[in-house]
Parts: sequence; C-alpha cells; structure tokens
Amino acid sequence: MTTADRVRDAVAAVTDPELRRPIGDLDMVRGIAVEGDVAQVAIVLTIAGCPAAQRIESDVRQAAASVPGIAEVVVDVGVMTPGERKALTEKLRDGRPARQMPFGPDSLTRVILVSSGKGGVGKSTVTANLAVALAEQGLSVGLVDADVHGFSIPGLLGIPAGTQPTRIDDLMLPPVAYGVKTISIGMFLRDGEAVVAWRGPMLHRTVTQFLTDVFFGDLDVLLIDMPPGTGDIAISIGQLLPHAEVLVVTTPQTAASEVAIRSGLVARQTGQRVIGVVENMAAFALPDGTVIDLFGAGGGAAVADALSEPGATVPLLASIPLSPALRTGGDAGVPVVIGEPADVAASTIVDLARTLAAQGRGLAGRSLPMSLS
Ligand SMILES: Nc1ncnc2c1ncn2[C@@H]1O[C@H](COP(=O)(O)OP(=O)(O)OP(=O)(O)O)[C@@H](O)[C@H]1O
Ligand SMILES: [Mg+2]
Repeated sequence: MTTADRVRDAVAAVTDPELRRPIGDLDMVRGIAVEGDVAQVAIVLTIAGCPAAQRIESDVRQAAASVPGIAEVVVDVGVMTPGERKALTEKLRDGRPARQMPFGPDSLTRVILVSSGKGGVGKSTVTANLAVALAEQGLSVGLVDADVHGFSIPGLLGIPAGTQPTRIDDLMLPPVAYGVKTISIGMFLRDGEAVVAWRGPMLHRTVTQFLTDVFFGDLDVLLIDMPPGTGDIAISIGQLLPHAEVLVVTTPQTAASEVAIRSGLVARQTGQRVIGVVENMAAFALPDGTVIDLFGAGGGAAVADALSEPGATVPLLASIPLSPALRTGGDAGVPVVIGEPADVAASTIVDLARTLAAQGRGLAGRSLPMSLS
C-alpha cells in the first residue's frame, strides 16, 4: 500500500455528518496526490454552502494528517455537478423511485404513532424523550412531528429556531438532535408564521412530504408525534401508514380515558395496531413521602382494558409521574432523559424505550394478512 492509498482510505472513511455515511461511499472524494510529505486532497460537497462543509473539511484534513509520513495536508473543496448530485440522490434512495414512501408494509422500520384523545396529555414530551432514549440505546431513530398546527418537537429537542433541513435537490436531510433525525413544520416557517388556515389537503400534503421527501436513511424506529384527537392528520396518517403501531397516551383521569379509548379504536379501524397505553402525569411522591395524585388514578389501566380484545391484550406499558424536571427539560430543549436521568419520569421513559426496543424490529408481532386461496 502506498502512502497515497493510505490517505485515500483514511479520507474515504470520514463520515458526512448529515448523510451519516462515509464520504467515500458518497463519491465525494475526487482526488488524492502525495508529494514528499504533502497530501493534496480534493473533495466535493453536495451543495454550495453546505452547512457541514467546515466539519467535513477539518475531518478530512485530520484523517489525512493521521497517515504516517504526512506532515502537511492541502484540501481542495469543490461542489458536485447536477449530474453527480442526481447520481447521489438516486444512490441514497436505494433504487426507490422519487416520491415513493419508504415506510410501506415491507419496510423493516417500525413505525410507532404516539396519539391521544385529549390534547395536552404530554404526547409530545413523551415522544421526544422516548425518541432520545431509543437513540441512546443504539437504535437508529427518526421523529416526525405530525402536529402541523401545534408543532412542538423542535423546541422540546432544543433545535435552534431557523434550523432548516439541508436540501439535495428534492431530498431533504432532517436535522439531528440528540441522535434523533427530526422533521417538523416548524423548520419551514419564518418567525411567528402560523399555519392556522391550513385545511385537510394541505395537511395531507405536508405529512406525505415528511414521509416521502425526507431522507431518514435506514431507521430502526420512526416515531410520529400526532396532533390530539382524530382529525384530518390522523386520517391521512391512517391512510399512509395502515400498518403502523400505536401508543395511546392518557392521563390517569377517567374523563380523559374515555376520549383516549376512542382514539385507539379509530386507529384500529384503519388497520393500525394499538401496542400499548402510556399513562402520563400520574401520582408523584414528595420528599416527605406524601403522594400527590393531581389527576387521580386508574386512567391508564382503564384505557388498556377497554382496548384489549380476546387474544390481543393491550398492556399498560408505563406510568410516568408528574415531574417538574420533565417539564423544565422540555422548556429548555434538554430532554430529561439526558439532562436529569435520575428523575423518576426519566427512568420510566428509559424503561419504556427498553421495553419497546426489546420487541424488536420488523414484522415480529405484526398480524400478517392471510390468504387461503
Ligand atoms: N409528566 C409530566 N409532568 C409535568 N409536566 C408534564 C408532564 N408531561 C407533560 N408535561 C407538561 O405538560 C404540557 C403539555 O405537554 P405536551 O405538549 O407534551 O402535551 P401534548 O399531548 O403533546 O399536547 P398537544 O395535544 O397540545 O400536542 C407541557 O407543558 C409539558 O411540559
Ligand atoms: Mg403535542
């Protein structure tokens, strides 16, 4: 192996922080030349002004300089031609035609919707923390904020305002926060802009685009933070992802549990499978041992019972207590599972993530349509 070969291997192994693949696989390495102890490295970026440019350049410099015998590295950074970019997006799509959703029934990615009947029960807070906890456990995780009118995921994950997905032609690269690839309408709006007037078709187009035009790569789990209730978006997602699994979030309050049951039943009508109930805002203990059950008790178990059918028990998977740390972590954009992992709400969500991860990926546990013909 010549020194130039070693430099080539080292440079090719540098990962593109957005595409999360080695730049060698992405055909971004153009040329390597070594003269004496000087390495000349030419690379091309996907687009001009690529936000990851500096990071890639310094990683490339470091990789080349780590090769024995190299004392100086000159990096030449160019940009792909439209033809090269087209070849790259085709490669990233893995043969899948543009505009085709990768999360169909044959996909190995588990799609889990987090839904509720009532609003404000903590879906988004739980979803964001669950996504981060799953990523911490080594899974490749995507998160779609399907609450177009009331998006909250970017804030919960501390994604700075103004962060936009990078575009490579018609592919969008989702920003990554705490290891979670995330997309939300909030990333497309200018400050203070709202989508109040959007109706069914626009909402449908938006969630469809999130699922087709965003390059998530090979995911183990895709979580979808649903808007409250069973409106237009829930219907669209039901049509787009009839094989999805559903987690129903409810508070311990019996009044909340009735609408939660209804949301679970509606999801089931579209073919989706309710895999469990998560009770949130459950009783918590004060340091002196006093137990505060602000929202009562029993709602989670009641919803799980009501959604269970003979042969298909719906378990109560977790009961997350009221937790100031969970709330302040959300407000600060530092999920409690990262910021205060010792908090009981945090450890309960980490346990929930472990339970879900243990169920494995792929078709396990899914009822497959059978035909006897
Ligand atoms: N276990 C908890 N303890 C304390 N506060 C909580 C808890 N869970 C959620 N919250 C707080 O409750 C509020 C509502 O939570 P969140 O936005 O996650 O609910 P949601 O169900 O997504 O609401 P929406 O239906 O509007 O989308 C937030 O201020 C959040 O910080
Ligand atoms: Mg929400």
